[in-house]
Amino acid sequence: MRGADSAKPARRSRVEMTEIVLPEDTNQYGHAWGGRVMALIDKAAAIAAVRHSRTNVVTASLDSLTFRAPVKLGHILKLYAAVNAAFHSSMEVGVKVVSEDPLTARQAHCCSAFVTMVALGGDGRPTAVPRLLAGRSEERRRQRDAMRRRRARLAQRERRRRRARP
Ligand SMILES: CC(C)(COP(=O)(O)OP(=O)(O)OC[C@H]1O[C@@H](n2cnc3c(N)ncnc32)[C@H](O)[C@@H]1OP(=O)(O)O)[C@@H](O)C(=O)NCCC(=O)NCCS
Repeated sequence: MRGADSAKPARRSRVEMTEIVLPEDTNQYGHAWGGRVMALIDKAAAIAAVRHSRTNVVTASLDSLTFRAPVKLGHILKLYAAVNAAFHSSMEVGVKVVSEDPLTARQAHCCSAFVTMVALGGDGRPTAVPRLLAGRSEERRRQRDAMRRRRARLAQRERRRRRARP
């Protein structure tokens, strides 16, 4: 499997994306649609996962998402994405979304999400990704937390599979 033997530092796949909220992104109250923010989260996560794996990737799952503060028309959105952990073919990417009032520069934490991205090989099947080198203590903590969340996700997947069996 390609990539499995190599290792890459977490910082190499970090993403910072900046967007502005335009009228087509908002509802009738001038607040951004949650779905638009989710699409940006997906995009930032995909870029981080591609940078780590240098393969095509697909989104396997997104953990629960809570919007803490509304994002308004004209506000600037900043997305910070980083690969928290790389498993076999999957990677957990953490994405933090911060909104910025363009006139006051005041920032608010809009939401955070954990996205699982899966690397695909040339045959369209999951393929191995490089190991993640978590150097700083903050990166190691994120890696440990991601492993714990992965166990919960896989257990949930197994429960769903069992329920779906005839
Ligand atoms: C994600 C997908 C590639 C997994 O394929 P699969 O045949 O189930 O493959 P596997 O069981 O070997 O799983 C591959 C990896 O995905 C992970 N995975 C699969 N489903 C998952 C889920 N719901 N949540 C988290 N991880 C998941 C597995 O744990 C495994 O990770 P690992 O290799 O690091 O251990 C497949 O389900 C798929 O293509 N889904 C659609 C993806 C897509 O189109 N996304 C965009 C939606 S519009």
